[in-house]
Parts: sequence; C-alpha cells; structure tokens
Amino acid sequence: MVEDKKPQHQHDFDGIEENDNDLPRWWLGIFAVTIAFAVFYVPYYHFMHPEKLPHAALQAELDQRQTVLAAAEAEKAAEQPADPNATLTAAFQAGGWEESGKAVYNANCAACHAPDGGGTIGPNFTDDYYLHGGKLSDIIHVVTEGVPAKGMISWKPILKPDQIRDVSFFVRSLRGTTPAQPKEKQGELVDEAGNFVDAAAPTE
Ligand code: HEC
Repeated sequence: MVEDKKPQHQHDFDGIEENDNDLPRWWLGIFAVTIAFAVFYVPYYHFMHPEKLPHAALQAELDQRQTVLAAAEAEKAAEQPADPNATLTAAFQAGGWEESGKAVYNANCAACHAPDGGGTIGPNFTDDYYLHGGKLSDIIHVVTEGVPAKGMISWKPILKPDQIRDVSFFVRSLRGTTPAQPKEKQGELVDEAGNFVDAAAPTE
C-alpha cells in the first residue's frame, strides 16, 4: 500500500474518502510509452497505410482469393470446348471407330436393339425419334449411365470409355438406314444434329 502523502487534499464523497496521491512511477511510465506509441501508430496505420488495418487487410486477401478463383474458373472454361458435340462430331466423322463399334454392338446391344438397329426390346435406332436425345453426347450418356428403370442397363462397369464411344458412334451411324423389321417410333422427333425439334420434349 502506498503511503498517503498529501492528506491535506483529502476529500470525502458519500462517505468514501479519497486522497490525491501521486500516480505510481511504473504506471506513469507505461502511460508515457503508450502515448509515444500512439504518435507513431495512428499516423502510420490510419493515414499512411490504412490498407494494413486488419479489416482492410482481410478484405484485400479475400479479394485476391476471389481473383485467383475467377482466373482458375476461366482457365477451366477455356480448356473445355464450348460444345462437346463439336469434338465428338469431328471424331465421328473422322472414322476409325466402325469396326470396334460394330463388334461391341453385336456382342452387347443387338439382343435388345436388333443387329440392324431396327429395335426389339429396346428402341429403333434407324428412325429420327429418340427418347433421350439424338446428339452424340446424349447417346454416350444413355449408354454410360443406362436407364435402369426401363431395362437399359448402365454400360459403365462393363465397357471401357472408348468402347462406349465407339458403340455410340455406331448407334448414331444406324440412323437413316433401313432395317428388316423396324420397331414403331418411340420418343420425340430430333433434327439432324440430334436436338429435339419440339423444345418441350423430354431430355431425360
Ligand atoms: C436388355 C436389353 C438392352 C440391352 C442389352 C441394351 N439396351 Fe439400350 N435400351 C434398352 C431399352 C429398354 C431402352 C429404352 C429405355 C427407355 O425407355 O428410356 C434402351 C435405350 C437405349 C438408348 C436410348 C435410345 C433413345 O431413344 O433415346 C440407346 C442409345 C441405347 N439403348 C444404346 C444401347 C447400346 C449401345 C447397347 C449396348 C452396349 C444397349 N443399348 C444395350 C434395352 C437394352
């Protein structure tokens, strides 16, 4: 306890007595240091470099991250061709898949879609009507994922990706041919590219 040095300055309020003592040296020392610190701190952070204040620094980091993410997104978009069907159509027209596609078809698909694509249990591939779309990507999608509820299995676990591609190209090549016993049309009319003519037609 510090000794009361100036009892003459004592005053009393509500029964509480207070002496006007000198502040301890250590306290004054810290007070002086904080004032000296503020003289540098306030101009530095609040006037010279406001961007270094925590909130601004955080915001800057978030903005930077946003930029990096946007750049990565743009890069990814640039890598993917705008229309996957453009690449597929080019590969389809380039050929080279016919033999492998036909072999896979005869071994796995002919039982339900008929050897000439006329259709039996599965739909007819020679007409312009499709249940799930006639684009190369649509056909590849159906063959890959299947329509299990309707009796068309997923070929993903059985065929390799290039076999799926080749057999899908083969299926596409059957369109416009004349089968021995064509099954009645199923699904909706598609245009040459394979898009449904009626935009309201189902895509799944
Ligand atoms: C067990 C019989 C069966 C086998 C085997 C089969 N499919 Fe199917 N496939 C179906 C049925 C049934 C549908 C109709 C599905 C529906 O109603 O949605 C179908 C639908 C399709 C469609 C969609 C046609 C459209 O109109 O959109 C394609 C493409 C197709 N099959 C390709 C193949 C290929 C390629 C193979 C061989 C790898 C194959 N299927 C093997 C029964 C079969």
